[in-house]
Amino acid sequence: MYEYLLPIHSIIRWLIVAGMLYTLVQAIRGLLGNTPYTRADNIARSIVSGVSHIQLLLGFTLYIKSPLATYFRSHAKEAMQYEDMAFFGIYHIAMMLVAIVLITIGAAKAKREAADRDKHRQILIWFGIAALVIFLAIPWPFSPMVARPYFRAF
Ligand code: HEM
Repeated sequence: MYEYLLPIHSIIRWLIVAGMLYTLVQAIRGLLGNTPYTRADNIARSIVSGVSHIQLLLGFTLYIKSPLATYFRSHAKEAMQYEDMAFFGIYHIAMMLVAIVLITIGAAKAKREAADRDKHRQILIWFGIAALVIFLAIPWPFSPMVARPYFRAF
């Protein structure tokens, strides 16, 4: 199961990155150009929110199945000395949880606003902060903390 979960979790990262970029660009264009909050913007907002919740479920399952996280759970003190175990045991999970909470709040707030400009503003604020946290918590190949590949083969 682990050998399938990890590549799926890695691929879904790209859906989230692309979705967040799209929604943020649309929000900036909406605010600067006073363009309407379209049906496509609304669909993109709920896709980003839904996919991030799927990633959360996959992440929790990985946390149970991953050898790194399993070792971390049973030997937390020693594991903290190893960068990758500390990263996936605490930092990645904590930061991604925060980011997904921010996305959920932002998506709900944007949905409730009446004016298009306010919808764009809510997306820009909440998704913008979440995107920054996600960017920092992804183990990019160039990351100074822990590096993992851009694509993981099955
Ligand atoms: C926006 C949310 C998230 C993104 C974009 C994301 C992205 C990633 C990426 C790119 C990897 C490296 C995959 C590889 O080695 O090829 C990874 C690993 C991992 N993620 Fe996430 N993740 C997210 C949320 C979460 C959450 C919420 C959890 C746990 C609750 C989690 C748990 C893990 C674990 C345990 C690993 C390491 C598995 C291992 O190497 O054994 N992730 N994640």
